[in-house]
Amino acid sequence: MAFEKILVLDDELIIRKSLQEILRRKRYSVAVAATIKAAEKYLDKDPFDLVFMDLRLPDGDGTTLLNKISKKPDAPLIVMMTGYATIESAVDCMRAGAFEYLIKPFSSNQIEIIIHKAENYTHLVNVNRFYSQSDSLETGLVGKGKATRQLRNLIQKVAPTQATVLIHGESGTGKEVIAGEIHKASARSGAPFIKVNCAAISETLIESEFFGHEKGAFTGAVDRRRGRFELAHGGTILLDEVSEISPNLQAKLLRVLQEREFERVGGNQTIKVDTRVLATTNRDLAKCVQKGEFREDLYYRLNVFPLYSTPLREKKEDILTLADHFNDSLQRKHGVKIEGFSPAAKSCLLAHNWPGNIRELQNTVERAVILTESGNYIQHSSLGLLHLDGFEPHVEESASEPYLSHTWGDLFQGEDGDKPDPESLIPIDELEKRYILHALEATGGNRSLAARHLKVTSRTLRNKLKQYQESQIL
Ligand SMILES: Nc1ncnc2c1ncn2[C@@H]1O[C@H](COP(=O)(O)OP(=O)(O)OP(=O)(O)O)[C@@H](O)[C@H]1O
Ligand SMILES: [Mg+2]
Repeated sequence: MAFEKILVLDDELIIRKSLQEILRRKRYSVAVAATIKAAEKYLDKDPFDLVFMDLRLPDGDGTTLLNKISKKPDAPLIVMMTGYATIESAVDCMRAGAFEYLIKPFSSNQIEIIIHKAENYTHLVNVNRFYSQSDSLETGLVGKGKATRQLRNLIQKVAPTQATVLIHGESGTGKEVIAGEIHKASARSGAPFIKVNCAAISETLIESEFFGHEKGAFTGAVDRRRGRFELAHGGTILLDEVSEISPNLQAKLLRVLQEREFERVGGNQTIKVDTRVLATTNRDLAKCVQKGEFREDLYYRLNVFPLYSTPLREKKEDILTLADHFNDSLQRKHGVKIEGFSPAAKSCLLAHNWPGNIRELQNTVERAVILTESGNYIQHSSLGLLHLDGFEPHVEESASEPYLSHTWGDLFQGEDGDKPDPESLIPIDELEKRYILHALEATGGNRSLAARHLKVTSRTLRNKLKQYQESQIL
């Protein structure tokens, strides 16, 4: 990771000049300052990657500034320099967060070595940050319904333990989000959260991805490489889609789970790791065991604490919360300001069956956010789920209010109490459909409650919705 900007802070002109020359030759952009005050001005204005800082300065002590900046997030790395080196001051500086302690005079070689080390270090920090900031970690588990509340409870219970957790559920239901929540709520949250997608990595490469390899272990292994179990040392590893690993790797994984040790590919040194294991599957692993596709002993090692990721159609009460959440984050992404969902749009969201689960909901909202002009509500027509031309009730209502508060006037788009204009009359089955959707919206998608309000059986309601779906209305 090559640095861009470096700051040199020293009151001696000769040091400023010589460092500046060495660094410019290496094509870094360099700023120089002779006082703490001038340096602070630079640091406030621009992000620097590295600072060379003298210990004694005319307007104060370098360590004071070191203490101040090294605590900030995204602080530059700081190399302290002095012509009066003592062990005590070196220890003080390192303790305060200095990256290096450099004794003057120095050679240009020393500077090059320091920069090389600092660039490698920054790279590692960034890689680690990348790994521990997956989408799902940023998002967190959204939803207030019963299933989500129960899940949150279980996560809080299991997270602080070392137990291996197997998260199972359909595709797009949030299994990775759950894994991220477990990591975040555990004592390992400050350490890496490393994911391996077992389905996406080829059979030949996956062993090296898991355990790393030694130089020359196979064609293309030009360097020694640490595997993801090693990267996750002290933290958590997520074996995503674990059902997909080969029998050979299943045996090796079993050993890691039992002994917490392994060898790199092509190596004979045994490596011990302290890594918490989480796994996800969208296949029924117990069935895979029955069919002889997955080792039974490994299944029991993984399934210490099973968690079920509920599909969206079984947690309808979370649909609108999730849709609002996606609307918020996606409008930020697309730089628009959207007021929310129109009542008809909410009805559509609630009535849809969501075979693609939360990922489908997220995509649906993203499409709608792109189609909606800033300052407007998302209309049902932008969702691409339901086509009820001309249906746009003008009354914003909370889902908890009884749907019967909708007047017939709402459904005709006329003012309350107005006689509808004959032009606006609509076929009776259209009217029925609108009323059913209102009922669904008002009951938060609860079909049996909606059926009760509508005075029809759940079965009739189900059949109606099915009929709409089949005729491409939903
Ligand atoms: N409860 C939730 N709150 C917020 N976002 C969620 C929630 N559940 C899922 N998501 C979002 O939905 C998308 C799919 O979630 P995720 O990748 O965790 O699903 P998955 O079960 O791992 O799917 P797959 O089996 O396809 O890998 C992600 O973008 C995720 O951020
Ligand atoms: Mg996943």
